[in-house]
Amino acid sequence: MHIQIDDKDFNLLIEYDQIKKRTRLIGIQLNVDYDNRVPVFVGVLNGSFVFLADLLKEVTISSEVTFVKVSSYDGDKNTGVIKKQVGLQMDLKDRDVIIVEDIVDSGATLRYIIDMIREQNPASVCVCTLLLKPKSLKEDIEEITYVGFEIPDEFVVGYGLDYKGLGRNLKDIYRAQYVPSET
Ligand code: IMP
Ligand code: MG
Repeated sequence: MHIQIDDKDFNLLIEYDQIKKRTRLIGIQLNVDYDNRVPVFVGVLNGSFVFLADLLKEVTISSEVTFVKVSSYDGDKNTGVIKKQVGLQMDLKDRDVIIVEDIVDSGATLRYIIDMIREQNPASVCVCTLLLKPKSLKEDIEEITYVGFEIPDEFVVGYGLDYKGLGRNLKDIYRAQYVPSET
């Protein structure tokens, strides 16, 4: 399947059915790992909202949800400058925190969020990300515990992820078609 968003072409990478199966397994694992605890899921906006919604439907243990919002991307370019748009709205002292991300690319965003959360002295911090680009990862982040899929170092959209704000509503995940550079 091939689609176009704005000026870019994309090909199907991961079907929703696969995402659903993987999400169910992660949910089961979380139910076991956090049995008898009441973790707080911290969703990283905007991208994680679709994954977080599906994930929470698989979580049966008692839990709370809050959000933070940061941005570093302009279109499909990572600017490297992280801006906090919405800070933590909840006291995380002594809480078990599960950060939920759509994708970990360089890891800079995650590092920033982990540092922000650790300032509040939570009991524990782990990261659950739907996608991980291992080749792009520049930080050693030991908190990354749950990973949906490892993907190639390519720009992806769909299932919450956007290109220029578009494509978040796509059910499946698509990768940008390789275009040889003009130079
Ligand atoms: P990092 O700071 O380089 O790890 O970038 C992480 C953030 O950039 C993610 O939370 C996404 O919002 C965004 N991002 C990274 N890669 C992609 C991509 O391939 N498609 C869409 N957004 C992405
Ligand atoms: Mg994000």
